[in-house]
Amino acid sequence: MSDNSIPPPENARENARENSREKSGDFSPEMRLHAPATQRNRLPIAQALAAWLPPEVQAGGRVLEVASGTGEHALYFAASFPGMTWQPSDPEPVHRASIAAYRADHLEAGGRDNLAPPLDLDATREDWLGATSPPDGPVDAPFDAVVCCNMIHIAPWAAAEGLVAGAARVLKPGGGLFLYGPFKRGGAHTAPSNEAFDASLRAQNPAWGVRDLEAVAELAARAGFAAPQVAELPANNLAVWFEKQ
Ligand SMILES: C[S@@+](CC[C@H](N)C(=O)[O-])C[C@H]1O[C@@H](n2cnc3c(N)ncnc32)[C@H](O)[C@@H]1O
Repeated sequence: MSDNSIPPPENARENARENSREKSGDFSPEMRLHAPATQRNRLPIAQALAAWLPPEVQAGGRVLEVASGTGEHALYFAASFPGMTWQPSDPEPVHRASIAAYRADHLEAGGRDNLAPPLDLDATREDWLGATSPPDGPVDAPFDAVVCCNMIHIAPWAAAEGLVAGAARVLKPGGGLFLYGPFKRGGAHTAPSNEAFDASLRAQNPAWGVRDLEAVAELAARAGFAAPQVAELPANNLAVWFEKQ
């Protein structure tokens, strides 16, 4: 499924690097990376989130997004849930530059100041609370939800382990870990397109690959989460909600 990748052209990466060095606080169009899939999947993801986020969280809660990528989801979700504060993050400097540029657009367009500057957060780090976004300082836990779209299959399994363990540390009791992406169920792919996507991921990196929902649920159970609630979304993707007990 090509739907799940972010393919920033190399020159965009270079431009973003160049610009983030030279223009702190000023954002050029080249910094804004674009992943077309986000335009297609953002509404179904927002609908799945709306079904699971309690009304009081939608009215005033705080969400940490891990692996925000281009920042297009963060921008859309911050606008879709104006009562919540959305904290994006990504370990890649070019992605954080893109997120920051979209955030500047959001503020300039008169959007509510509910989209925080991106944090430098790698899910495999033990110390999520040490992740910082100068000059705004460290992560301000606890959160009502942790959201992660399209990351655990495009990273080694250690990233899934770190994500679940980190989410358990930063979530309030009753908060939820939300995942979106392709999953195997009962050890089997749910569609031929997912099987082909899995093969292409493994060809790029043998440590990557579409994960078994049951294996992720086992990690989550060990970290103190309830059994997953699952919604089937378009293009053979799942939205999954693990509530912290
Ligand atoms: C395919 S992109 C998905 C981006 C976005 N969530 C989306 O759905 O469009 C995968 C993202 O995972 C991030 N990533 C990879 N390894 C990570 C890790 N260990 N911790 C956090 N993010 C990671 C990458 O930097 C990239 O932004």
